[in-house]
Amino acid sequence: MLQVARIQGGRKLQGTIHVAGSKNAALPILAATLLTTEKVVLHNVPDLSDVRFMVEILQHQGAEISQPKKGIWIIQARKIIHRTPYDLVRKMRASVCLLGALVGRLRQAEMAIPGGCVIGPRPIDLHLKGLEALGCIVSVENGLVTIDAQHSKGDTVFMGGPMGSTVTGTANIIMAATTTPGMTTIESAAQEPEVVDLCTFLIKMGAKISGQGTPTIKVEGVDSLHGCEHFIIPDRIEAGTYLVAGAITDGDVTVKGANANHLTAFLDKLREAGVQVETGADYIRAHGRPSRAVEIVTEPYPGFPTDLQAQFMALQLLVDGRSTITEKVYPSRFMHAAELQRMGAEISVDGPTAAVYGDRPLSGAPVMASDLRASAALILAALAAKGETWVQRLYHLDRGYEHFEERLRALGADIERLPAAAMPKGFAED
Ligand code: EPU
Repeated sequence: MLQVARIQGGRKLQGTIHVAGSKNAALPILAATLLTTEKVVLHNVPDLSDVRFMVEILQHQGAEISQPKKGIWIIQARKIIHRTPYDLVRKMRASVCLLGALVGRLRQAEMAIPGGCVIGPRPIDLHLKGLEALGCIVSVENGLVTIDAQHSKGDTVFMGGPMGSTVTGTANIIMAATTTPGMTTIESAAQEPEVVDLCTFLIKMGAKISGQGTPTIKVEGVDSLHGCEHFIIPDRIEAGTYLVAGAITDGDVTVKGANANHLTAFLDKLREAGVQVETGADYIRAHGRPSRAVEIVTEPYPGFPTDLQAQFMALQLLVDGRSTITEKVYPSRFMHAAELQRMGAEISVDGPTAAVYGDRPLSGAPVMASDLRASAALILAALAAKGETWVQRLYHLDRGYEHFEERLRALGADIERLPAAAMPKGFAED
């Protein structure tokens, strides 16, 4: 059943919430559980539809999976198959992380190629080029990629592309290299905390990895990996989204369990915009509204994260003057701009740069979410708008935010989830 969010703007959000486990750390780590026949126990796994898609894929591959309680998954992949069909892959682009795990475990993989999506074309050429550098035989035919890694061996792999290094591409090469004979050196490796968490997990499984968190990662192949227990890192994007919710409503929100070191560029811009930010060992607090226009450039970590760009655009709507956003990771990730304009925003998009002319009156409207982060941005703008906003295509939100509307309600938001049929006549999509 299609669902929508109804938001009545104008309430200040105040209080404390606990950050969930990171989606983008959990997905490759779940894939990596296929690297061993032994039992793996994962804690702090977020309750998201993307996680459920990944669990479904792992079950298809042959893994036995149970969830003894919320946030904990036990996975054991005694015997697995190397084929992953399109009907599973098309549900979630991150299923591409399976390639490295299957190569590492079975020395072969056959997988439907995930398509692009609304945020950009999202090719996997760098993943495949990296596997070829390790001596894998890679062929692409009829929408399928087939990898034969029987004779692969460690080598130097370059993971940089026109948009910088690739996050899941780096994850794939690391996973494949864990059991590839010899030393693999990944240059221009992604430095994201989620890649570091994957390495922490793999090291617990017996992998020999060094340099994670820097542009050069070294992986020395081992014969096999074993089971382990791991606690997923906090979701920096979820944390950032709630901090924007506090600032956009001139409220006061503390995110407990968040790691401020993972959000340096974002917090720097929040402060530059005039929001009061306080950080401690395991919390981040944002209070007060923004007052200054700022320039944002999204970049691979440690730069400003593209996954917080849409939410920050919503925040910029409050500020008098001209703010800009330049997308260097996904140059066309601005679908939310047109929907924000329907709420009264003035935004002009020119190639990879959006200019936001803020301090225009925002009013509630029926809007359509185009992707995960866009859906969060529309809800954030709705919190600051006058009147009622209806956000459609809520399934995008559920891919990456655990119980978003419940958690916002706990901070004081007037938001509810309703069946699409509850929308005023003429608002709902067909
Ligand atoms: N790219 C290539 N060739 C490749 C791979 C990537 O040209 O082979 C380009 C992409 O088109 C893009 C850029 O490189 O322009 C970066 O893509 P990357 O591969 O790093 O993205 P990803 O690994 O597919 C992860 C996150 C995304 C996040 C990006 C960038 C996961 C599961 N997904 O995607 O998260 O936006 O890194 O940080 O980790 C989200 O959570 O909303 C989300 C989209």
